[in-house]
Amino acid sequence: MTANAQASDPPSLDRHFGGGDGLLPLWIAEPYIDVAPEIAAAIEARARVGWYGYETRPEVLADSFWAWMAQRHGWGGTDLRTLVSPSVGTSIGVLIEQFTQPGDGVILQPPVFTDFKPLVTSAERTVVRNSLVFSDKGYCLDLADLESKAAEPTTTALILCNPHNPVGRVWSATELSDVAAICGRHGVFVVADEIHADLTLRHHEFTPFATVASGAGVRWAALHGPIKTFGLAGVCDTLVITDNDEVTESFEAESSRLHLTRNNVFGLAAFEAAYATGGPWVDGLLTLVETNAGLLRDHLPEPVELVDLQGTYLAWLDFRELQFGVRELADWLAGTARLGLSPGHWFGREGAGFARITIAAPTGQIEDAIARLVYAVDSIT
Ligand SMILES: Cc1ncc(COP(=O)(O)O)c(C=O)c1O
Repeated sequence: MTANAQASDPPSLDRHFGGGDGLLPLWIAEPYIDVAPEIAAAIEARARVGWYGYETRPEVLADSFWAWMAQRHGWGGTDLRTLVSPSVGTSIGVLIEQFTQPGDGVILQPPVFTDFKPLVTSAERTVVRNSLVFSDKGYCLDLADLESKAAEPTTTALILCNPHNPVGRVWSATELSDVAAICGRHGVFVVADEIHADLTLRHHEFTPFATVASGAGVRWAALHGPIKTFGLAGVCDTLVITDNDEVTESFEAESSRLHLTRNNVFGLAAFEAAYATGGPWVDGLLTLVETNAGLLRDHLPEPVELVDLQGTYLAWLDFRELQFGVRELADWLAGTARLGLSPGHWFGREGAGFARITIAAPTGQIEDAIARLVYAVDSIT
């Protein structure tokens, strides 16, 4: 908002997404479309109450999450604990602090979401790389490497990302069972970041880590919530799911110690409305993502390619045949294509030569992005 703007002016999306100077910004991992009308209505109704003080969190919120999970993924949580956390990053930070020691190794599977590494290193733990393997069959886990890294006595945790940001894999039940077995064998705590769980595309199903963990003797916590599914990162809390009393008690103790327990009254309203009424909107979102992925698959200029997208609304584009250096690719995307994407090296050195584009956006914007890439590739070949 400018200094002269009225208090009632809506905030500028250009400012939020960094879209100045003709740059088309598609780099933030959230839907670039309006939230479900039912959610907006619930927030508006809550705003009209005119009282924004301390509000307790009703039981119905966890129930709304579990009703959603049962209906969308056939996953019931009756034997699991459901804890509240202000953000996924907060949960990861707390779990690392409580279940690993300074100097321990924490396994990441790069290329992977940018926040994981600083959460590990700022806690004075060491990143242990279990890099994903990319071949003409797509991305897969390197389980042999995971076994050898997990076997190191100093390695005490793994941050798993399922579905995986940025490569778009939805890990199968078999892959996840293997991960659970390896981590169970070596006493490695698994933090399963499942914040993109609802965003699986046709023919792909989300497998909760919880469902493969029982029997593997692995300690774990899974991170969920409405923030990515419904575009609510600016208002809603997230959840920590676990079957373990020690995790529950220590997470609650830390939440209490750090006062992470304050409720946002609009967040409470949005959370319940999202899980109770947001199904048709999410179905529409997934159809939009399928359509936009199809456009990228068919119309990206050669030699740029879309990596097989199974889940998330984050498409991973392969620019390697253009043979740019890391900095050159970033400069060319912003300077020549005029596209605000996330260059792949942000996700680890394994991402060099790739870039991530958010495709939960109106199809016209994806067509515009493709046209910009066609122009930019033409200008170099
Ligand atoms: C896999 C993953 N985890 C966590 C987050 C961020 O969650 P939070 O903002 O709640 O820390 C993102 C955001 O893009 C994400 O993609």
